[in-house]
Amino acid sequence: MKVINKITLGLVAATLLLVGCGSDTTPAKQEVVKPTITAESLSLRKSTLNNEDLKPHGTKYSDTYAGSGHKIKRAFQDAPPMIPHDVTGLIPIKIGDNQCLGCHMPEVASAMGATPIPASHFTDFRPATTIGKDGSVEKDGHKIKNTSSEKLMNVSIKATEGGKLYGGRYNCTQCHAPQDTGVLAVPNNFEADYTHADGASKSTWEGTKLMEGINTYESSK
Ligand code: HEC
Ligand code: HEC
Repeated sequence: MKVINKITLGLVAATLLLVGCGSDTTPAKQEVVKPTITAESLSLRKSTLNNEDLKPHGTKYSDTYAGSGHKIKRAFQDAPPMIPHDVTGLIPIKIGDNQCLGCHMPEVASAMGATPIPASHFTDFRPATTIGKDGSVEKDGHKIKNTSSEKLMNVSIKATEGGKLYGGRYNCTQCHAPQDTGVLAVPNNFEADYTHADGASKSTWEGTKLMEGINTYESSK
């Protein structure tokens, strides 16, 4: 009983305090403040949140056939280009079935009017990594103390053996996506600031340029 009484008293005191504070600051005339931000202006639906009569954003992929000459501006310098053509029947890419190669391999690309797969995709950026007998990490046969360092033996940039497409580039759609040409739910206002005049249509990652500024084991030899 005593405890309840104490709590009740406490509540009464708190209420009095709040009322007291309130009456001090309440303006003489009660103003009705209208909300300046409405639910409609906040929501992507552009209607009230109670309205469920909505059409979902329709995703629409390009239906221009490969070879129609249609290309999409690169998002930024050296961004992987979006796939501008229809990919129906070309995906998913499987082991032993990659039709992208039939048009994009450098030896056939110009005949097909397609952009050739660039030098970076025929480059191995990874040193051969093994675990030594004492449990230490070895890269290209050299003991590595700090596996997250980008310097020296930790990075090894070399052309692939026999000029083969690097395995890590086989699954093209891991990085190159078809472009949704439907109406965007949220407009994209991003503007690229290309470092090269032709950055919107060409990548700069060519040949020896891949090695520039990177202190690799090969370049230190
Ligand atoms: C029948 C030949 C053909 C096939 C198969 C093909 N492409 Fe293409 N691709 C082209 C051509 C030609 C272009 C140039 C634009 C055009 O004319 O459509 C192109 C353009 C591209 C581009 C844009 C290049 C740029 O410079 O902007 C990318 C990325 C691409 N293709 C990726 C792929 C991927 C990934 C696949 C497999 C899923 C694929 N392509 C399959 C012919 C092909
Ligand atoms: C790991 C990500 C990745 C994968 C996988 C990949 N690409 Fe790329 N691709 C890129 C990036 C990043 C660029 C832009 C920079 C460069 O040229 O390396 C690019 C550029 C290109 C270009 C434009 C070259 C130019 O000169 O402008 C073509 C064409 C292309 N890739 C085709 C392909 C095809 C076909 C495959 C599958 C066989 C593939 N890529 C797999 C990331 C990837």
